[in-house]
Amino acid sequence: MSQPRIIVTGGSGKAGKWILKHFVDQGYEVINLDIKAPSDPVCRTIIVDLNDLGQVQNAISPFSGGERKVPVGIVHFAAIPEAYLFPNEVCFRNNVMSTYNVLEAAANLGISKVVIASSESSYGICFATEFINPHYVPIDEDHPQLPEDSYGLSKVVNEATAAAFHRRTGMQVVSFRLGNILVPESYAAIRANFDDTESRKRILWSYIDARDVAMACQLAIEKDGLGAEVLNLAADDSSSDRPTSELVARHLPDVEDIRVPLEGRISLLSNVRAKRILGWEAKYHILEQE
Ligand SMILES: NC(=O)c1ccc[n+]([C@@H]2O[C@H](COP(=O)([O-])OP(=O)(O)OC[C@H]3O[C@@H](n4cnc5c(N)ncnc54)[C@H](O)[C@@H]3O)[C@@H](O)[C@H]2O)c1
Repeated sequence: MSQPRIIVTGGSGKAGKWILKHFVDQGYEVINLDIKAPSDPVCRTIIVDLNDLGQVQNAISPFSGGERKVPVGIVHFAAIPEAYLFPNEVCFRNNVMSTYNVLEAAANLGISKVVIASSESSYGICFATEFINPHYVPIDEDHPQLPEDSYGLSKVVNEATAAAFHRRTGMQVVSFRLGNILVPESYAAIRANFDDTESRKRILWSYIDARDVAMACQLAIEKDGLGAEVLNLAADDSSSDRPTSELVARHLPDVEDIRVPLEGRISLLSNVRAKRILGWEAKYHILEQE
């Protein structure tokens, strides 16, 4: 039987590298769309500027080379991945237009399942000029999204775009509000800096291993019957060696609404919904990595 084709955007980047590998290992035919070539090619890459709808539509069409096949889904991770790296409007335009184009092209070609990378930054705490407290912890998907930066705003807009395409076409679009993505080579430096508990306060000490992200993407593509879903994606534990109750008492003393018992090193970015909807579990934990 011919392999199902999956399109991954941003596969030449940090998280995308692990997503490409995962889908290849799971028996998919994977096509990476990125503006730059990957350092470690594990599948075909088409160099595409996702800001150009024509390029996106052409690259994912069944006639883009190789066997004629409609992709079963698109995992869209390409983006400028943080605020203030580029001028504000460049980040906004790139992230918003690339996502719009991916969804428009998917709709036009009858591709009915898309995953997009949203971010915990959409809650607005990460890049706020003056620190803002979470309204409550752990933060779940009902927490208000209050970004002031163009990166977080682009992710809010992208989630709204996803919902619009679901309304227009019935397309299933899962937006993952990702915690800080860690790859195997990230862990040593973070562990070495555990004493500086302030440094990861603005991401509420959350993290998610890129390999767990990749598994969640596969589950979201293979699941049927979802609409436009937003799901936090974070490990169960925090990226600090301190008890979460201690971190909250020390760094978030004004947060009064604490909605679950803060046992052990529990994450302040709730993954309860992703577990329930997808049957997903985070397998990689910071204290168990080299
Ligand atoms: N890194 C994190 O901690 C984190 C946290 C939350 C969400 N995210 C999101 O996850 C995704 C992946 O993040 P990452 O850290 O792997 O980023 P990255 O910068 O390592 O990779 C992003 C890739 O997207 C490509 N890209 C950007 N704009 C493009 C365009 N217009 N056309 C084609 N390719 C383009 C880049 O070339 C790059 O290879 C992003 O959407 C990011 O916003 C990342």
